[in-house]
Amino acid sequence: MTPAAVFAPGPAADPVLRADVLAGLSARPRRLPSKYLYDDRGSALFEAITRQPEYYLTRVELALLAGHMGEIAAAAGPAVHVVEYGSGSGLKTERLLAGLEGPLAYTPVEISAAALEACVARLRPRFPQVEMLPLRADFTRPLRLPRPRRAPARTLVFFPGSTLGNFAADEAVALLAAMAGTIGDTGMALVGIDLVKDPAAIEAAYNDAAGVTAAFTLNLLARLNRELDADFDLDGFAHQARYVAERERIETRLVSLRPQRVHVAGHAFDFAAGEAIEVEYSHKYRDAGFAALAARAGLEVAAGWGGEPEGFGLRLLRQAAR
Ligand code: TRP
Repeated sequence: MTPAAVFAPGPAADPVLRADVLAGLSARPRRLPSKYLYDDRGSALFEAITRQPEYYLTRVELALLAGHMGEIAAAAGPAVHVVEYGSGSGLKTERLLAGLEGPLAYTPVEISAAALEACVARLRPRFPQVEMLPLRADFTRPLRLPRPRRAPARTLVFFPGSTLGNFAADEAVALLAAMAGTIGDTGMALVGIDLVKDPAAIEAAYNDAAGVTAAFTLNLLARLNRELDADFDLDGFAHQARYVAERERIETRLVSLRPQRVHVAGHAFDFAAGEAIEVEYSHKYRDAGFAALAARAGLEVAAGWGGEPEGFGLRLLRQAAR
């Protein structure tokens, strides 16, 4: 793709990364923002996670898209501007763009430039009639959407993968509210949500036997070693992912295997044996809970596909009737 087609985010994110990481490691419990998992290598490892046999989320979501595309297209209508939060490799998008009725434009929103370029490079030849308008940005912040050459009938935000579940309830509401602003009065949002189910199946998805998920979370420490002049010993920390039924979520953390001191950007941090850094929570939803979350953002569920039998759901949101 042409690099000029990418909208630059402005100043380098480095000071923000540094401030976020130092604050997170100083907090109790210690934590690291999960969005930093997705550097170029992290994004590639995440793609590998989605191909693991235990990681049902991607497989089921793709099947739902394939099985219900006619209904989704009818509900979304023709000539939409598809805006995807966190584009990844664009495989789900390919299904969506192929199934929608004459989509006008596509805007993937990504922090990883490599993932963004790979996505557009893959989709552009497949959909020559869809204007590609990639946006390099952090979708947790307000977005300034590029304007398609032809006026779209509406904006359709696509937020698959249950990434919404990676936000605490208040943050998820804030994100949905920002999404509501992005879609405007007539737009819609197609959101993937992982559903509450057998804890063993959920836990297996975050502890794949091949160890790809462990490599993915540990890559965060490798990134800090590289970008923040840190000295994490990657053999001194272990990936841990547990389902906590009372909170209906997977909690992923990096656990220090021994007492150790780590330096990050000139600051020293002492870890006790067994002390954890919280990395990511993946909330699992029930229909009533999800509808309530959407309602707090002024949105309502217009349609849905996938439920208990599938273990994963797609939900189409629109502005709630006022
Ligand atoms: N959105 C994905 C999820 O919650 C991201 C993810 C999958 C993830 N596996 C992970 C994040 C392991 C951190 C650690 O399912």
